Amino acid sequence: MANSQIVSSNLGATVKTKAAILWEVNAPWSVEEIELDPPGPGEVLVKLAASGMCHSDEHLVTGDLPFGLPIIGGHEGAGVVQEVGAGVSWLAPGDHVVFGFIPSCGRCASCSTGHQNLCDLGALMGLGRQITDGASRHHARGQDLGIMCILGTFAHHTVVNEASCIKIDKDVPLDRACLLGCGVVTGWGSAVYAAEVKAGDTVAVVGAGGIGANAIQGARLAGAKRIIAIDPVEFKREKAMEFGATHTAASMAEAMPLIQELTWGTMANKVIMTMGVGSGEVIGEALALTAKRGRVVVTNIHPAMEYSASMSLLDLTLMEKQLVGSLFGSGNPRSDIPKLMGLYRDGLLDLDGLVTAEYPLEGINEGYDAMRAGTNIRGVLKYD
Ligand SMILES: NC(=O)c1ccc[n+]([C@@H]2O[C@H](COP(=O)([O-])OP(=O)(O)OC[C@H]3O[C@@H](n4cnc5c(N)ncnc54)[C@H](O)[C@@H]3O)[C@@H](O)[C@H]2O)c1
Ligand SMILES: [Zn+2]
Ligand SMILES: [Zn+2]
Repeated sequence: MANSQIVSSNLGATVKTKAAILWEVNAPWSVEEIELDPPGPGEVLVKLAASGMCHSDEHLVTGDLPFGLPIIGGHEGAGVVQEVGAGVSWLAPGDHVVFGFIPSCGRCASCSTGHQNLCDLGALMGLGRQITDGASRHHARGQDLGIMCILGTFAHHTVVNEASCIKIDKDVPLDRACLLGCGVVTGWGSAVYAAEVKAGDTVAVVGAGGIGANAIQGARLAGAKRIIAIDPVEFKREKAMEFGATHTAASMAEAMPLIQELTWGTMANKVIMTMGVGSGEVIGEALALTAKRGRVVVTNIHPAMEYSASMSLLDLTLMEKQLVGSLFGSGNPRSDIPKLMGLYRDGLLDLDGLVTAEYPLEGINEGYDAMRAGTNIRGVLKYD
């Protein structure tokens, strides 16, 4: 397979490769040649095989996530290690890796207490520069480039820190494994870890795109009795049933009488928010769908400048409802990525059905148009 080829004859040399760069907000991704410095200490050069097109990169385009520009997008990638920098002892050329969109150092308080999704190194994500020295290894048009989530997977090659790499077995195709770098673990973990879905629960998932589809799969595997997928797009509602939803609704307003009827008025034990863009205005509606002692999990990203939410805090108190955030499915990428690969192997987790369309790197703007139009669950950029 071309992706497994190791090009180690030019060790230490600058690599010319292609990447999709965002130069300014509300502009298209620009696919162009970049120069990539060799990996420094603790870093690896990876030839990417594929990258999922998560909605979070769209927040860079709209400015909802105000990361520094120019930036190479993409944070849901998998590929083959080409070269390792000084001190990297556990990875070698030819190894297959999935990137965690948050690095895990293994040494900070969060990592050492089983919360790798909150690794202290995650604080560097917005800078998009290398963890070791804060410098950029990616350059174009004579400028330093940032890399989304310290990864930059909208590219044929990248240089990342070893803390972002999860070594995987070679049997799972990289164009499916890449989805484990963000969307699958985030959605699945939002249900299994953050919502703590229990056998027999009624679960509502608001937004049935790439993340929501996996929240549905997680809720199903955790034993939910009913899963109500809420999405305005009919295609998403149809696909949601394939992932394990038992009922669908086009809006939270439409779901209200449905959930009332299904639960005899006790409402949903868990409500998981996975809309394309979070909105503080709908949190009250989500709480209204939630049972006494139930939990609303906010996984979708809200615009950085949104500071208000509309909700009844009396409802929160009198019904002991909970409102919690969740990052990377509140999981541990180093154990959850291999674990979910195992579920895929055993036919318990659907990765193939998530991929609606594949594009070359040059098709990135077409792929994001499809996401905006609601015709993709996940678009995947496939290189080579
Ligand atoms: N917390 C995390 O760790 C994390 C990780 C990855 C992605 N995210 C965020 O999760 C969100 C979802 O990402 P995605 O890749 O699945 O996006 P997506 O575009 O694939 O899916 C979003 C879905 O929400 C639906 N939707 C839009 N408005 C809605 C509404 N009012 N009610 C119900 N459904 C609505 C859309 O039709 C679409 O199907 C994004 O905000 C993304 O940034 C968070
Ligand atoms: Zn993502
Ligand atoms: Zn850490």
